[in-house]
Amino acid sequence: MGNEIVYLNGQYLPLADAKISVMDRGFLFGDGVYEVIPAYFGHLFRLEDHLERLDNSLKSIRLQNPHSHEQWRNLLAPLLKHGEDQSVYLQITRGVAPKRDHAFPQHVTATVFAMVSGITPHADPDNGVKALSMEDSRWKLCHTKAITLLANVLLRQEAIDHDCAEAILFKDGYLTEGAASNVFVVIGGVLMTPPKSPAILPGITRDVILEIARKNNIPCREQAISMDDLKKADEIWITSSTREIIPVVELDSEKIADGKPGSLWKMFYKLFQEHKKSLR
Ligand code: PDD
Repeated sequence: MGNEIVYLNGQYLPLADAKISVMDRGFLFGDGVYEVIPAYFGHLFRLEDHLERLDNSLKSIRLQNPHSHEQWRNLLAPLLKHGEDQSVYLQITRGVAPKRDHAFPQHVTATVFAMVSGITPHADPDNGVKALSMEDSRWKLCHTKAITLLANVLLRQEAIDHDCAEAILFKDGYLTEGAASNVFVVIGGVLMTPPKSPAILPGITRDVILEIARKNNIPCREQAISMDDLKKADEIWITSSTREIIPVVELDSEKIADGKPGSLWKMFYKLFQEHKKSLR
């Protein structure tokens, strides 16, 4: 730990040497946005989609993208290891201001950081994970991938304290998403997920799942899902760039169906792996 090469403000350097000022707006205010992009076999997966979402996040916090999409591609490439599955984390903050003041500082350069870590997203096909339902305590800009993640951190930790892998969040009685994932449910053979709105992060994995469903003529819907719907679900999945598709087999200590990963999940897991391989 510490020797891996990271990117910070125009330089590639060992992680242990990558330092930023305590006056950075990211440190003082959580004033920044980020992306997590999987790379399969050394190739960035859905990079354009991630960069488009980054543009939207930056727009929503009124910060200009310091790089074009092509510059991002070139900037991230040296961090990737040939042939390996990795995940890229990139973060942009509003930079280092001369004093602590909530208002935007003038003439400040954004801080840009990127690092890569190993990825082991593969679900165990015989066992799923447990989840805990919780009230969604987050703010109204959940479609912005902000580094300000304290609510998500507390929600996830509470789930872990209950021996669960994820918190499944509800706002006004309706499912939003997981603490760090989107959520799908299967009821009567139909795959469902909440529609895009400011209440959820528009997950790139979520888009991939919906595309796979449509391509394979599997009925799917983007619609509001209540707690009652979730209770009668045949399957529940969580999806993210680092975890791919994980089956939830227990919610609030109650088994989902027979408490084993469902048949549609098995099918999607296979289709997702095939889709990844097709990019090689
Ligand atoms: N999080 N919703 C939230 C709140 C998330 O934090 C994430 C991913 C997702 C799934 O989005 P995607 O499929 O584009 O990864 C949904 C990343 C992995 C993280 O914060 O580490």
